[in-house]
Amino acid sequence: MTTPIKPQPDPAYALAMGQLLVLYTQVDQFIMEACADRLNRAPDLDSKMGLAKQVGDECRHVAIQHEWMMQFGVDNSPVIADTALDELHTHFRSLDWIDFLTELYLVIEALGSQAVEQIVPLADPGTRQSLQVPLQDELDHVAFGLKELDKALARLSDEERRRRLGQMPERINALVAWLEGQHLPIASWFEDVGSNYPQLCELLRLRRDELLVELAA
Ligand SMILES: [Fe+2]
Ligand SMILES: [Fe+2]
Repeated sequence: MTTPIKPQPDPAYALAMGQLLVLYTQVDQFIMEACADRLNRAPDLDSKMGLAKQVGDECRHVAIQHEWMMQFGVDNSPVIADTALDELHTHFRSLDWIDFLTELYLVIEALGSQAVEQIVPLADPGTRQSLQVPLQDELDHVAFGLKELDKALARLSDEERRRRLGQMPERINALVAWLEGQHLPIASWFEDVGSNYPQLCELLRLRRDELLVELAA
């Protein structure tokens, strides 16, 4: 009796999905470190507890992804250079609480996990399974970030609140531009796993606008 051959994913798909998994894992590790770094400067016990929980969640995501990447046979050399990550850490350390929340939660968590969500239906069963727990937690993280932003904005005068809300699109665009400046072939990775990249970018723009409207309400 012959052993059935396990279907092998298309090599271009496997390579691109592998690189996206490495990117996702590096970003999760960055978030874990940024949240840990911010813990003692968070404004109250609730925000400290939220950040501490998230450190644990991201730690679990990194472990899950490492385990899956090993099984999937991914070359897990970093796709974002250490120097770029150091630069990003320095930038995040320099941000006040509102800017930290805006950049970490509106951009990295909300838009990042939205992008990951888009590839779930296109992914092979193992990858899809590996993303299940992380993506579920990311919903909590986005909710935490939005709640904290609401709280922080509510502490301001009306004029200052309007000013900070008005600055958000620019902050979001600056961080997105920094990410684009890393010149990662993200568009072709997404296309190679079967996603329509221009459509994804449009979806992320809509999501960004929706989040900003939600905050300003
Ligand atoms: Fe995560
Ligand atoms: Fe997260």
